[in-house]
Amino acid sequence: MKTSNGVKVKILGAGSVGNHLAQSCRRVGWEVSVVDNDPKALERMKNDIYPKRYGAWDDSIKLFTPGKEPKGGFDIIMIGTPPDVRMKLALEALEEKPKLLHLEKPLSTPDLGEVKEFEKSLAKYPEILVTVGYIYAVSESVEAAVELLKKKIFGEILTLDVEIREDWRSIFAAHPWLSGPAETYLGYWRRGGGAGGENSHGLHLWQYLAEVAGWGALKEVKTDFSMKKEKETEYDELIAFLFKTEEGKVGRVIQDLFTHPFKTWARLQGEKGFVEWHLRGVPEGDLVRYQVEGEDLVEKVFAKKRPDDFWRQALHYQKLLSGEIKLKDSPLSFERGLEVMRVLNRAYYPSSL
Ligand SMILES: NC(=O)c1ccc[n+]([C@@H]2O[C@H](COP(=O)([O-])OP(=O)(O)OC[C@H]3O[C@@H](n4cnc5c(N)ncnc54)[C@H](O)[C@@H]3O)[C@@H](O)[C@H]2O)c1
Repeated sequence: MKTSNGVKVKILGAGSVGNHLAQSCRRVGWEVSVVDNDPKALERMKNDIYPKRYGAWDDSIKLFTPGKEPKGGFDIIMIGTPPDVRMKLALEALEEKPKLLHLEKPLSTPDLGEVKEFEKSLAKYPEILVTVGYIYAVSESVEAAVELLKKKIFGEILTLDVEIREDWRSIFAAHPWLSGPAETYLGYWRRGGGAGGENSHGLHLWQYLAEVAGWGALKEVKTDFSMKKEKETEYDELIAFLFKTEEGKVGRVIQDLFTHPFKTWARLQGEKGFVEWHLRGVPEGDLVRYQVEGEDLVEKVFAKKRPDDFWRQALHYQKLLSGEIKLKDSPLSFERGLEVMRVLNRAYYPSSL
């Protein structure tokens, strides 16, 4: 692990994602403090999750319960809590004036609670870079597919499909301390759980790829769900979106909590060829397959392990902080994360159309 290079990071939430965020920040040499309102979560981070995932606990990481944590002076604040408390904490974080504020996905609850207030407050701090953690969009594999699309070697793009299909088993394997969806936001769509919120990487990737393909803004969205109600829980196990853009292009996204082993992919068919992205499509990592008509099929493997997804995000943040990448060009921009929430809002609350 690199020694500190002067960048100070505060992470709220010591759960599954909080551990990944902390390790990725340490990997690029940043100084890390973690805050969680559950002392058991901090203990679990130090004695269980972190050493099991990454080999050993990193003694340089400082752990705090709320009220005891330092405020102000952080270059980056990351909100890795469940979605239903995110915006409240994000509002408070703005007042600490970090250079970059990372909000986990999904940005908020689907009713967009406190998002308006956050946008209003953010207008007072235009220098703060606000991002949403849709990590796959900055993976080496997606970046490679995007580079191919930008070269326009496939001609006009005619179809775009994205599926994020992953059952609860893999999600709960990362949360062995939870007995099931009822114990967490995951079992409640109103709190940002269910397939819509939890697997919203699908919506994000579709919107990002549609933008790269020049499909124009979204014009129409049709949605359907498979809802599950069990005891107090209520969540969509499957959500399907059908999109039409201003350019008259039609595409779709499926997100589910059934598919085992998981199957997460995107495919763009052009007039003169196609490109496909497969998350962990081979045991070594991600797979990108493409073919330009009349040429050989190409298959490229991007070797990676799960922590590398978060490390790539940290590398992206280094570029945002140095100005090498502008926020408006970043797939992780707040605006793009908010666009996902707008679609989810209209899906769950059709009367808000
Ligand atoms: N970007 C990704 O690929 C990715 C991966 C995993 C999780 N996530 C997202 O991260 C979020 C958290 O997921 P998770 O799996 O880590 O959940 P988790 O339940 O494992 O951890 C959340 C932690 O936040 C803490 N917390 C709650 N309120 C708090 C507060 N007010 N202050 C400080 N800490 C507080 C909880 O005590 C808990 O320890 C979700 O929105 C999830 O979708 C994103």
